This record gives sequence, structure tokens and C-alpha cells, in this order.
Amino acid sequence: MLEALSPQPADALLGLIKLFNADPRADKIDLGVGVYRTATGETPVFRAIKAAEARLVETQDSKSYLGPDGDMGFVHALIPYIFGTGFDRARVEGMQAPGGTGAVRLAVEVAKRAGVRRILMGVPSWPNHAQIVAAAGIELVTFGHVTPEGTADLDALKTALGQAGPGDCVMLHGCCHNPSGVDYTEAQWDEIAPLLASRNVLPLLDLAYQGLGAGMEADAYGLRRVLGAVPEALVAYSCDKNFGLYRDRVGAFYAVTSDAEALNRAMTNGASIARASWSMPPDHGAAAVRIILGDAALTAMWLSELDDMRDRMRQVRDRLAAAQHVGPIAMAPLGIQNGLFSILPLTPAQILTLRDKHGIYMAGSGRINIAGLTTGNIEQFIEALRTVAA
Ligand code: LMR
Repeated sequence: MLEALSPQPADALLGLIKLFNADPRADKIDLGVGVYRTATGETPVFRAIKAAEARLVETQDSKSYLGPDGDMGFVHALIPYIFGTGFDRARVEGMQAPGGTGAVRLAVEVAKRAGVRRILMGVPSWPNHAQIVAAAGIELVTFGHVTPEGTADLDALKTALGQAGPGDCVMLHGCCHNPSGVDYTEAQWDEIAPLLASRNVLPLLDLAYQGLGAGMEADAYGLRRVLGAVPEALVAYSCDKNFGLYRDRVGAFYAVTSDAEALNRAMTNGASIARASWSMPPDHGAAAVRIILGDAALTAMWLSELDDMRDRMRQVRDRLAAAQHVGPIAMAPLGIQNGLFSILPLTPAQILTLRDKHGIYMAGSGRINIAGLTTGNIEQFIEALRTVAA
């Protein structure tokens, strides 16, 4: 029977990891998958995570099952960071999910059970968004996210919303847009929030990089603005990047409603979807996050590590922007974009040449991982780009 299956291509971004690892060149540069790297190219475990893990190993006396909603101490500890300390706690509940991907999948499946038939999404977007929506069997409606000037395209969102209504869900990146780095400004969020409310659509906010853009509070501006305007929304959250827990798969799914019964329905549906999918999320990373957020000294340590990451990425962006023009590529916009990613307007042939001739690996969309550029390789990168883009 299995011969009836048609072979599937490997995920392009994850395939890049393998290609990069197999490349023997010592001066190769990995700008592919979104992991943070230090100025010397490492992705170390956060010191705060190491300390929390040590405490976890010492104090954990059972690995018995927790349940489909995972570690609720972890889920609740994140709430003030995501929703703000003043948010009406009765409106929100959540559950743990395996990474941001698990959280998006849960949110999309809950939306589907709630009657959502179409998901509107700005493009380009994280390629897995479209895959998840397709896997859930929901129609995807796209609109442009970036203007030719390199700003977030509010008009395109407005036009898409003008044709949307009840039964539609709108997926928005909370901050550090993946793959473009182009976020809505605060003034744009101020317009988006009441518009979402007036169209009666269900917002799905994906917050996968909180703290890596302008800071933990500033990066939640759009999400909080939306939640202040709409009666209901879904949130997918990831700790994979801002706690550096990538392979431990640490995420959470939240529902926000205006009545307790609807909240309970969202959560019980989430739990039943989780049970039939992964049964229970992995515990270790979420428990480490819970320990950090329950301890003032560890929280301060984590936040300072996050500050260092953000500062470093800002320095890389400043250096890239200072290049002004690399061939026809305007580099200045990279200086005002946010987070791990930006897109360079390169052709597939140029992307391939950068890989084959210069050992520089980036996604097929021209997306680069800003943190893959280090003090040791950034000049080499700009030079290679100059050669290829000339
Ligand atoms: C990325 O976009 O590189 C990350 O979100 C990792 C992933 O799972 O795609």
C-alpha cells in the first residue's frame, strides 16, 4: 500500500541545515534557519536556562503525566509578559503546546472547529503557516505584507479586511515579522485593532519572537492593542527563540474571549485536539521557563541575556544598513526592520551562486538570518553579496 504514496520534497528550510552541515568549507556562512547566534557564531544555552535546569534536576521528583494542557504554571507565568499586567485575567486561558508550530496548529484547529472557513494572511509569511492552514483543510486568502518602499502594507490589510467578515480568521505576526522583519508600526496597529473589531473577524496573533525586536513590552504592543479592541482572539506563542529552547519545543496556545463559557469551550476543544495529536506536550523546557519566571534573579538574568541578543542584532543591522547600496540592493531598510530576519531581493540564481561559490546559505526567498552574521563573517558576506548582485 505504501507504494501508493508520492514522495514529498524535504522541507526547504530544514533541508538547508543538512546542506550546510555537509559543506566542508571552513568559511561557510549559515543564514538559513532562524536560530540566534553570538558574535562568535555560537547558539549557547541561556545562563538562566542552565540555572533553572539545574534546579529542575534537583527538585523534580516525578516524570508522571501532566495532561494535554501541559505545565499550567508555565502557561500562567507567561500571561503578564504577553498580555500585560493589567489585562483582565478572566478573559484569557491557555495551554502548553510543542513549540510555536504546535501552538499555531492548535489555534488553527480550534478556529476550524469554531467555524472558521478562511484564514487571511499577509505574504510573504513563514512558509509553515500556509502548510499548517492547508493541513487543517482551511482556505488561505493572502494579501501583500510589504510595500515596494519596504514598509508594512496597511492598505493591503485594509482591502483584505474589507472583503472579510464573520467566519474569517486573520493571522498576524505580533512582532519581528518572519521572513521580512517588517512590522506594523504602533500607529498602524492603532488602526488595525478597531478595524478587526468592526469586521467581526477572529484574529490569530502569532508571537514567536517577543523580546527580539524592540523589547518584551514594545513587542507586545500590537497584540495588546488588538486584544483591547476585539471580543475574541487566539494567540500562538513560542519560547523557542526568546528562551533559546529550540529543540525542547516550548510554546503555548491562548484563547481570549469575553465570556467564561466560550473560554472553557476553546480550552476543552484545544485539549481534545492536543490529545489526538501529541497527547501531551514535552515538559522539560516549559518547566525551566516556569522556574525562571518564578524567580526574580533568574528573570533578571534571562531579560539581560535577551537584551544582549537584541543589541547584537541591532549592531548587525546597523552595519548592513551602513553599506547603503550593495549593487542595486538598498541596504538601509535592514536597519529599521526587526528581529532575526530580513529579505534580500535576490534571484534564485543569485541565491544559488552565493551558496555554491561563496558558501553562504539562505532561504530560497532571499531571507537571511541576521544573527548568522558575526564580527568574523559580516564583511565577507557584504563582499560576496557585492560580487553576486553587481
Ligand atoms: C524559521 O523560520 O527559521 C524558524 O521559525 C524555524 C522553523 O521552524 O522554520
